[in-house]
Amino acid sequence: MPRAGISHEGHGTTLSPHAPREHGTNAAIVESMRPASRRILECIDALDVVPGTRVLEIGCGPGVAARELVRRGAQVLAIDRSAVAIRQAMAGSALELATGRLRYVQASAEAFTLAPGERLLDIAVALRVGALDGRHPEAGLRAVASIRRALVPGGRLFIDGGDPLREVSLTEG
Ligand SMILES: C[S@@+](CC[C@H](N)C(=O)[O-])C[C@H]1O[C@@H](n2cnc3c(N)ncnc32)[C@H](O)[C@@H]1O
Repeated sequence: MPRAGISHEGHGTTLSPHAPREHGTNAAIVESMRPASRRILECIDALDVVPGTRVLEIGCGPGVAARELVRRGAQVLAIDRSAVAIRQAMAGSALELATGRLRYVQASAEAFTLAPGERLLDIAVALRVGALDGRHPEAGLRAVASIRRALVPGGRLFIDGGDPLREVSLTEG
């Protein structure tokens, strides 16, 4: 469970060097080598995932945080409403996708549902996503409702803008 640094307002990884080469365009290689920023690393550190933690990332963009979570042993479902972002994230995540512990889906936080029979996730995280940081309250309510449905009972949602994260209540909305 997440540790200190989060305010309440609101199997071990082995990356194969033999990952498939079909995503090996120059752009994808550049993307996959892009180091996570200090901002993203601090947020991922604060989540304190352990191997096997099931994480839903909302608004994954080019996949930097998702890849970092996989490196820490998490099982990650990363969504973004932008087809371009999902394509870029997939292109830069060949090694992590090859572990079988990362999946990208193009979906909005508001309309997102798990596939029938898919296991619920333990925690959700959204970094710099307007629908969840109060900028768009109505979209935020719909997003929180769909995230709640995707999480186990007691599952928790974290966004940035805290120290470094803050928790968003899943009991409202
Ligand atoms: C500012 S970028 C942040 C990307 C990444 N999370 C980061 O912190 O670097 C916001 C991303 O969230 C996605 N996004 C914005 N609103 C969304 C929504 N309602 N549902 C899903 N994705 C959303 C955008 O397409 C974009 O890729």
